[in-house]
Amino acid sequence: MDDRPWVVETLSPEETHGLGGKLAAFLEPGDVLGLRGELGSGKTCLVRGICEGLGVRDRVTSPSFLTVNEYGGRLPVYHLDLFRVERVDDLREHGYDEMIFGCGVTLIEWSERIAHALVGERVDVGIAILGPTRRRFTFRGIGARSRRFLRDARSDG
Ligand SMILES: Nc1ncnc2c1ncn2[C@@H]1O[C@H](COP(=O)(O)OP(=O)(O)O)[C@@H](O)[C@H]1O
Ligand SMILES: [Mg+2]
Repeated sequence: MDDRPWVVETLSPEETHGLGGKLAAFLEPGDVLGLRGELGSGKTCLVRGICEGLGVRDRVTSPSFLTVNEYGGRLPVYHLDLFRVERVDDLREHGYDEMIFGCGVTLIEWSERIAHALVGERVDVGIAILGPTRRRFTFRGIGARSRRFLRDARSDG
């Protein structure tokens, strides 16, 4: 069993989109992905790929402050952007616990903003900008289910 972080580099937005599509195939109800990376690193791009892979037909855009974009695909998708969130209590008032402990897939942009309140079972995705069109994704599975998800996804070739 290989529990080291999984590191993938992409050379275009299309490749990142494709990476998201590949991840989607292995997602299960209740999975949570936290996306960390500066503005323009590709968080929403990866989310779009995941959503397409899950069969979402709606247009996927960045949610604004404290709203959750909810999409329907093979699984329900909850898409959050915490760029401006300061209080975890605000999230709780907006149904955060119901999302992360529910039957959908929760995709959280700027998850580091609530690092202390993130659910223990999750996949952390760090995104680094290496060049104008080059991005490095580092996936870490936190918890047994998330590590299994990453093992399945990375062994897919
Ligand atoms: N390899 C790549 N992967 C993802 N986006 C890329 C890549 N190369 C260039 N880009 C560009 O970077 C930007 C990423 O935007 P977006 O996904 O909205 O980022 P974020 O949600 O992290 O702010 C887009 O303009 C996209 O075209
Ligand atoms: Mg975004």
